[in-house]
Amino acid sequence: MSAISRLNTARFLASGLVARAEHYEELPSTQDRARQCAGETVCLMPLLIVADRQTAGRGRQGNSWWTGSGSLAFSLLFDPAEFGCPRRPAPRLALAVGAAIVDAVAPRATDHGRGHCVGLHWPNDVYFGDGKLAGVLVEVLPDGRHIVGIGLNSNNSAAEAPPELRRQVATLLDLTGRMHDPTQLLIDILDCLTTRLRQLGADDPALGESFGALCLQHDQMLTLYLGDRAVTGRCAGIARDGALILDTPEGRRQFYAGTLRPPPPHLPLRERAV
Ligand code: BTN
Repeated sequence: MSAISRLNTARFLASGLVARAEHYEELPSTQDRARQCAGETVCLMPLLIVADRQTAGRGRQGNSWWTGSGSLAFSLLFDPAEFGCPRRPAPRLALAVGAAIVDAVAPRATDHGRGHCVGLHWPNDVYFGDGKLAGVLVEVLPDGRHIVGIGLNSNNSAAEAPPELRRQVATLLDLTGRMHDPTQLLIDILDCLTTRLRQLGADDPALGESFGALCLQHDQMLTLYLGDRAVTGRCAGIARDGALILDTPEGRRQFYAGTLRPPPPHLPLRERAV
């Protein structure tokens, strides 16, 4: 393993951003290890769990997560009250995490003038053009502590992804043609996350405004699935409160939940049952 691809746990601790850090070559899922630690009688927080490989990485809605070799996979266990945030599920928190990843990654990513940039796809994915750079999974424990899991396609290549994912994945290595120091990347993400969580806790309007500014889906036709219903509309951005804004044939509507999937080719551009 080259020096640049090696994680340096001592540097995470020295950054002062976490109180405890564990680094594994392989884990089933960093989320599960964080959950296990949360059950300890005394657990220093924020706690960072990083793994080079995950054998059972989890995504949202029961999906699995491909942890490509060289990618970053980590979980952070923390008490949201330490940042002034509520100890309950809040959609804006997941978006704040997405915004923090964009803050940290955007200065490293350039497409050499082709016009793409790093930004958000509602509800909280980080994209570059049509490719997913990072995913965020937020789990809330019964006592209100949060486990935020982040998978970032950093020093891995989409060419090594399972064939069905290859066209959906963007990686920092593929975009920039160079390796990125994972320790510094992680420290920068944690730093930006601290800032965004403090903004959330302070109800700083800058956070809500950034959701709209970072949204890459403006003007795209999107289909949102809500249980057995589908709503198709033109995206008018992400609202300050974290809602997806769609201009539908029935007018402008805001959504706080649902799953975005490509529309079936035959779907008329109006709300209908599927
Ligand atoms: C998604 O986009 O569906 C969310 C993906 C979250 C993946 C990360 S990788 C680190 C952490 N451990 C997991 O098992 N999942 C999250």
